[in-house]
Amino acid sequence: MKRWAICYVSSAAPLLTDKDVDEVLSWTQSWNLDHNLTGMLLYSDGNFFQVIEGETETVKGIFSNIYNDTRHRNLIKIFDKQIDKNSFEFYETNFISKRSKNLIHDDVPYLKCLETLDKSSQIVVRNILSAFLSDKF
Ligand SMILES: Cc1cc2nc3c(=O)[nH]c(=O)nc-3n(C[C@H](O)[C@H](O)[C@H](O)COP(=O)(O)O)c2cc1C
Repeated sequence: MKRWAICYVSSAAPLLTDKDVDEVLSWTQSWNLDHNLTGMLLYSDGNFFQVIEGETETVKGIFSNIYNDTRHRNLIKIFDKQIDKNSFEFYETNFISKRSKNLIHDDVPYLKCLETLDKSSQIVVRNILSAFLSDKF
């Protein structure tokens, strides 16, 4: 079975409330778990960062929903590619962080996930995440 991974950053829609963000996170967690998708969805100060991985058609199908979702915009893809295995597969569900600035330092399992990505993706994701979680983003 071919597997696929997509990673992007986006800006939350201007009027999105904390409750709306929580709804996105909890919907995503349960849908992705039911459909064997792994990865992570982070929200920090008005921006989303997501990695989704799984069976190719499932990933591409859900991404077209995500892309057209009016709860965010200015979506910029970081990668969109075939993968050999799921980098984040040892997460039982999506790893989700709400408004956490200390994620990179605090979450050791998350760092282990990064190590399993191929080298070029690892560098890209690390750089984006440190920008994402710093005040400067
Ligand atoms: C930033 C963001 C990330 C999302 N990620 C996922 C996801 O990984 N899985 C998912 O099922 N829905 C995700 N959604 C929700 C989908 O965009 C969409 O609402 C969902 O597929 C239900 O679509 P439907 O209302 O057309 O059935 C995300 C939404 C946003 C705003």
